[in-house]
Amino acid sequence: MMLVSQRKMKQIGFFALCILLVFGFYETVVKMENGRRGNIRSRLIPNNEDRPLQESLENYEDSSIVKNQVNDLAEANKKIQQLDEKLRNIEAKVNNRIPKNFPTVKFLNYKNRKRILVTGGAGFVGSHLVDRLMLEGHEVIVADNFFTGRKRNVEHWDGHENFELVHHDIVRPLYLEVDEIYHLASPASPPHYMLNPVKTLKTNTIGTINMLGLAKRVGARVLIASTSEVYGDPMEHPQSETYWGHVNPIGPRACYDEGKRVAETLSYSYMRQEGVDVRVARIFNTFGPRMHMNDGRVVSNFILQALQNDSITIYGNGKQTRSFQYVSDLVDGLVALMSSNYTQPINLGNPVEHTIEEFAIIIKNLVGGTSKIIELAAVEDDPQRRRPNISRAKRFLNWEPKVSLTEGLTKTISYFEKELKKTKHSQGDVVRIPYVNDHDIVEQL
Ligand SMILES: NC(=O)c1ccc[n+]([C@@H]2O[C@H](COP(=O)([O-])OP(=O)(O)OC[C@H]3O[C@@H](n4cnc5c(N)ncnc54)[C@H](O)[C@@H]3O)[C@@H](O)[C@H]2O)c1
Repeated sequence: MMLVSQRKMKQIGFFALCILLVFGFYETVVKMENGRRGNIRSRLIPNNEDRPLQESLENYEDSSIVKNQVNDLAEANKKIQQLDEKLRNIEAKVNNRIPKNFPTVKFLNYKNRKRILVTGGAGFVGSHLVDRLMLEGHEVIVADNFFTGRKRNVEHWDGHENFELVHHDIVRPLYLEVDEIYHLASPASPPHYMLNPVKTLKTNTIGTINMLGLAKRVGARVLIASTSEVYGDPMEHPQSETYWGHVNPIGPRACYDEGKRVAETLSYSYMRQEGVDVRVARIFNTFGPRMHMNDGRVVSNFILQALQNDSITIYGNGKQTRSFQYVSDLVDGLVALMSSNYTQPINLGNPVEHTIEEFAIIIKNLVGGTSKIIELAAVEDDPQRRRPNISRAKRFLNWEPKVSLTEGLTKTISYFEKELKKTKHSQGDVVRIPYVNDHDIVEQL
């Protein structure tokens, strides 16, 4: 008993010693730490008994922590918002609903807003006309087979509630409900219309019948885009609308020239026989942005050659004359003709005449560069003189061209420059992969 109690006593003593040691250690450490804090404070606040200052220090410490936390929170919020925006864009892209900034169009009420069909509206002239009609607040339907036109010419309207693009060949009938039809569908430059002469004839004859038939069915007014080519190689100069023309009916240009002459004949036959409300515009050479860069026509050829420092090529001796109108002037004329009561053919062109040689020099000077001007053999059936008499348009439409040759050329040259850059870029981007057979293509698509 005595032995057990002695051992117990030892254990109790050892336990008490441990407690004392722990307590002593705690006291020393806590005091040291408090002392250290006290020192820091005393360094900051010399008078330790100044309670308000001490409190403000505590508040200061607390507020700086809170401030840091607030900053972190704001930063996180900003990042969340950015991610949210990105997510919404991705979602919109996925749903093909990228919000688009359309040019601002006028608001027209139901009574004044027309539904207008533009055949060939994805082409050079057509796309400018579409821009004008859209800006005026009308509903525009473009029907085009994209033979010489491009979706790119009208893509800025794609998705607009007033706009519709229909892939359609006008050689086939088209059933729509419209108030007006601008019938422009037809290749317009010699290389294009000579590529498939039979198709050119079908477009200008069967296609025109289809449009006149549609106009008759729905009671729409129809404007036919005819051409100065109906005068052929003219014996009268300048050409007025009363001149019947000098056309070779079996030459390489006949598919276009005679096609347009038949289109005019059809128009007046539908007017007389069926009471269709027709307008006929005889359009002279037109130029401007969105014209075809490689259509072999004088303006595009010369600009392209000058921009690339190639020789500027004149076919023949360069003494043949042309007059060129800027595209916005033509659009003014087309719109004025459509809204007028004048039903006879009307010339729309710029009467300021230049020789081809003069054009070459003007364009070379505007572009600059080192191109030489050279002469090549003359082209078959190339008209020697072309200049519109526009007194009819002046009298009945109060229309005449406003844009000078230099102003129009400057705008067109800058368009060609941009297009050339784009072409170079896209060619640079293309990674040319050698395809051995169709399996390669399928695999690499
Ligand atoms: N640009 C000029 O200098 C000029 C001069 C005289 C007359 N024109 C006439 O003006 C109109 C427009 O000429 P442009 O210079 O804009 O030519 P363009 O080649 O740029 O435009 C013609 C449009 O018609 C489309 N088209 C052709 N055949 C078609 C078919 N069968 N069905 C549907 N669409 C078809 C083409 O894809 C193109 O979009 C043409 O009728 C042309 O004869 C133009």
